[in-house]
Amino acid sequence: MASILQARSFMLIAYAMMFTFMGEPTAAVVTFRPSKWSLAHATFYGDETASETMGGACGYGNLFKNGYGTDTVALSSTLFNNGYACGSCFQIKCYQASACYKNVAYTTVTATNLCPPNWSKPSNNGGWCNPPRVHFDMAKPAFMKIAQWKAGIVPVMYRRVPCQRKGGVRFSFQGNGYWLLVYVMNVGGGGDISSMMVKGSRTGWIKMSHNWGASYQAFATLGGQALSFRITSYTTKETIIAWNVVPSNWNVGLTYSTSTNFH
Ligand SMILES: *[C@@H]1O[C@H](CO)[C@@H](O)[C@H](O)[C@H]1NC(C)=O
Repeated sequence: MASILQARSFMLIAYAMMFTFMGEPTAAVVTFRPSKWSLAHATFYGDETASETMGGACGYGNLFKNGYGTDTVALSSTLFNNGYACGSCFQIKCYQASACYKNVAYTTVTATNLCPPNWSKPSNNGGWCNPPRVHFDMAKPAFMKIAQWKAGIVPVMYRRVPCQRKGGVRFSFQGNGYWLLVYVMNVGGGGDISSMMVKGSRTGWIKMSHNWGASYQAFATLGGQALSFRITSYTTKETIIAWNVVPSNWNVGLTYSTSTNFH
């Protein structure tokens, strides 16, 4: 709920409607400003190697290989929004605690994981991620940029910001010729995805359903066909189309890149 309210508070600036470039429809130019700073708390998980942050609940797998590195965070379920918040970016600054590093304005992290509730602990003493708490469980190297790790937990100010990504959106494939499961990675702008469609060279547009984290699925016979994707940003509602981003000899276990991204 909080993230929906938060999404509403973004100042959307649409200064162009749909326009056409070389016959291919491209996205409307939509961008958003950072949200207002709000108060929350942050802890960390894993160690300095951040190995425990790999394989998180967004499905990004190896975060080094997939470009997210150690500037990542697990969100409490209040923020996680059943995975729809995967890929969104936050600036986090330590706030009025002796453990805060004074010369650090903030650090920027990407949501790659869920911090699950633990109802056997009170939400003000260990159950930091229990709803309705807004909480950031940061990768330890990210936490160590803003505060002394020995503090364990610090008050923070945070805000949603646009994600800066190098290159285009990437599609990582699982499934088979009859069930396609796609992990959407390296998403710029809002960083998040609200819906997705796939089109085979011999099909029309097929709506994909949200599976888990940042993955979408289609139960359709798509083997041996070149594929296009249509993805819509959760935050900005912008839609982009990656035409024939996947060749007809596609295979599961592979990742396909487009030059297109959100702003
Ligand atoms: C929840 O907290 C209890 C009590 O500290 C602990 O024993 C348990 O391992 C925790 N569960 C999870 C899933 O972390």
